[in-house]
Amino acid sequence: MKRTYIRRAAELVTCSGDKAKHGSEMKEVGIIKNGAVLIEDGHIALVGSTEELDKKVDFQTAELIDAGGQAVLPGFVDSHTHFLFGGYRADEFGWRLQGESYLSIMEKGGGINATVTPTRAASVEDFVALGKERLNTMLRFGVTTVEGKSGYGMDKDTELRMLRAMKILDESHPVDVVRTFLGPHSVLPEWKGKEREFLRYMLTEVMPEVKKEDLAEFADIFTETGVFNIEDSTWYLQEAKKLGFRLKVHADEIAPNFGGSEMAVSCGAHSADHLLKASDEGIRRLAEGNTIATLLPLTAFCLKEPYAPARKLIDAGCAVALASDLNPGSCFSNSIPLLIALGCIYMNMRIEEVVTALTLNGAAAVGREKEIGSIDPGKQADLIFLHYPSIQFLPYRTGVNIVSRVMKRGELVI
Ligand code: NIG
Ligand code: FE
Repeated sequence: MKRTYIRRAAELVTCSGDKAKHGSEMKEVGIIKNGAVLIEDGHIALVGSTEELDKKVDFQTAELIDAGGQAVLPGFVDSHTHFLFGGYRADEFGWRLQGESYLSIMEKGGGINATVTPTRAASVEDFVALGKERLNTMLRFGVTTVEGKSGYGMDKDTELRMLRAMKILDESHPVDVVRTFLGPHSVLPEWKGKEREFLRYMLTEVMPEVKKEDLAEFADIFTETGVFNIEDSTWYLQEAKKLGFRLKVHADEIAPNFGGSEMAVSCGAHSADHLLKASDEGIRRLAEGNTIATLLPLTAFCLKEPYAPARKLIDAGCAVALASDLNPGSCFSNSIPLLIALGCIYMNMRIEEVVTALTLNGAAAVGREKEIGSIDPGKQADLIFLHYPSIQFLPYRTGVNIVSRVMKRGELVI
């Protein structure tokens, strides 16, 4: 058996729990001063203070890691990304700086549809090579599990290639990749006015194959004005559930009072994501239910949109997760340091809430709260070390990556 003993962590931030934290629970991160963790075969075996664990651990058989002066916390979970795609859309970023809106660019043929042609041209090998580079940047920021969506193929072959590549990456790269099918990511010109038919094509031609090859756990849809309406989205989600998918929704990003959050809760979705324009009723429904409210501040920042009402959601009792939304259009960033800064400075979240949102609640948003997201006995040893003694340095050392070491399943990978 391989044993690793981490001791003298200035603060061990356990985020202890095996289910999402709601509302006021989010600030309880369970800090152990001068903390220690014993890892056995990639899993956490003992957690406590260094004094306590020094008495229990056999120093002869364990590899020692000194975390003196450093905070240790669970690896971050980036629970919403579109990290696989072909080509780039730097021109659109420039147009937005000149005042054009995301939807107007989409209407004139830019946006998601513009990524489809270069994505359809990519092979599984191309995706794996691109994906590996992008996962490497995530790992350096302390992300040990990521969710990745298909959705830039919108035809059977390309959607399957994207997911097959993510499966290969999951098996070959230290970062775990939770896969989501997002066939209904937008409406291509040839399907305009035939949205139901398009969804039926996805449900009958593509998704059974996705399930057969075990390519995705989740199904997602972009419910938005000019994309998929509530009626069609509800039907798609209900049908996807019958096929065995867990559900996610791109909800209430742009149009106010669209009802995306309410629909996500009614359909029993695992998460409702974006929520910039969530209504009071939507927030109330999210707080009562088990649907995680996943907020994507980097996207709001890049689109110059007002941030999602994090304070209102948490104060209402919702379970909030934070994620990057890395994608080629609305947000070509997976900067965890910037995300943390925005969460704390502009969304008025406490650093403890931000840490919960990026660990245990992120894990819950991808259905892995029993395996990852906290430092508890039995969980996978996915841990990060900071250059500084406390999580308070995460927003304070603004926009700078302060992750010094990353451990995945008990092995130091950074
Ligand atoms: O989550 N909103 C829909 N999908 C992505 C954007 C994808 C793109 O612009 O390429 C998002 O922001
Ligand atoms: Fe997204």
